[in-house]
Amino acid sequence: MPEALVIGGAGYIGSVLVPALLERGYRVNVLDNFLFHQTSLMECCAHENFSVVRGDYRDADTLRKAMRTADCIIPLAAIVGARLARRMPAPPSPPISMPSAR
Ligand SMILES: NC(=O)c1ccc[n+]([C@@H]2O[C@H](COP(=O)([O-])OP(=O)(O)OC[C@H]3O[C@@H](n4cnc5c(N)ncnc54)[C@H](O)[C@@H]3O)[C@@H](O)[C@H]2O)c1
Repeated sequence: MPEALVIGGAGYIGSVLVPALLERGYRVNVLDNFLFHQTSLMECCAHENFSVVRGDYRDADTLRKAMRTADCIIPLAAIVGARLARRMPAPPSPPISMPSAR
């Protein structure tokens, strides 16, 4: 049975992708640091071919161990979208100066 490692698999895309991979007969291992305390994979926990490691992919040992048995790797871990905007709001834009009508 092929094994997929989904890095950042507890996020938005992972919450759709991981059950789909399990349904298609993959063994799925997720590596995620659960930065936002996500519970999106709760239902997958009951699946016999599902496993999860809580960890940071930037840690070389953690990543190496997670990759050891993987046949394919799907890298989704990121700080993106609304979460990024909340953590790192953009500086206010300078006012736009409009050309005068004259
Ligand atoms: N959501 C979209 O519509 C969309 C569209 C196109 C591309 N993408 C890309 O797909 C990827 C995933 O998007 P998403 O919407 O699922 O994001 P998301 O924020 O929902 O999920 C990212 C996951 O990565 C985990 N993570 C973050 N840093 C980590 C780290 N250092 N180690 C381990 N896990 C870590 C988070 O805990 C989270 O579960 C991103 O690269 C995004 O740019 C997303």
